[in-house]
Amino acid sequence: MLLTVSDVSKSYRKGQPVLHNIDVTVGAEEIVGLVGESGSGKSTLARLIMQLEPTESGCIVFDGLPITKRSKKEFYKKCQIIFQNASSALNPSWTVREILMEPLRSQKMDREQHIQKMLGNVGLSKQHLNQRPSELSGGERQRVNLLRSILVNPKLLICDEIVSDLDRLIQREIVDLLLELNRTTGMAILFISHDLQIVEYLCNRIYVMKNGEIIDESSKIENEFEFSSSYSKKLFGK
Ligand SMILES: Nc1ncnc2c1ncn2[C@@H]1O[C@H](COP(=O)(O)OP(=O)(O)OP(=O)(O)O)[C@@H](O)[C@H]1O
Ligand SMILES: [Mg+2]
Repeated sequence: MLLTVSDVSKSYRKGQPVLHNIDVTVGAEEIVGLVGESGSGKSTLARLIMQLEPTESGCIVFDGLPITKRSKKEFYKKCQIIFQNASSALNPSWTVREILMEPLRSQKMDREQHIQKMLGNVGLSKQHLNQRPSELSGGERQRVNLLRSILVNPKLLICDEIVSDLDRLIQREIVDLLLELNRTTGMAILFISHDLQIVEYLCNRIYVMKNGEIIDESSKIENEFEFSSSYSKKLFGK
């Protein structure tokens, strides 16, 4: 497994767990969905995996090592996250070129060439490089975000509601980009979303969360998911 979350719990207030004994795995090259109602703890779990907050108990192992045993710099080359709000993640005073150069600053490579080569993979073109985030559409901003995350060639990309602000057509384009990236680079994806249709389309396996617990899990078999709990059956209209 690329990522193994074992028995992880978290509370912000004593005695009120936001996450309760969470077990989640993501295999190499796998696309895993995480769904659940608002407040069920999905983003909290993502933040713990990304070491943006400490876990209270349990263990998170990434690529063979507990995440706390690896330097953050090394970890962030292998594991990246994108959030819903593309605008707030991008420095408004920088051009797209400056935004994309930043994650590569310590790498010995022709950064301009690498960026130009990768632009097409996310459906952007050279002209976008000189624009600032305010001069881009929401879909273009999310493509810049996506490109910034994949420039370092991560093994795992966590997407937290990344298409929720976009219209249906652009959503589909971004999701197809993710599928293509997964197919060509083998990058695994943990895809957090309210949009069950998109999750069913994109993912090989889905976890269902409720009140801080994983209550169900299903793998895609012959293009179908089969859930065991009545909650998830109802959620997915099965
Ligand atoms: N920093 C914090 N301090 C206190 N409580 C928090 C904090 N962050 C999250 N919570 C609480 O943890 C619970 C889970 O929040 P979280 O953001 O993980 O839910 P979510 O499943 O991502 O919801 P949504 O689908 O709306 O994004 C909520 O009850 C929230 O109020
Ligand atoms: Mg959330």
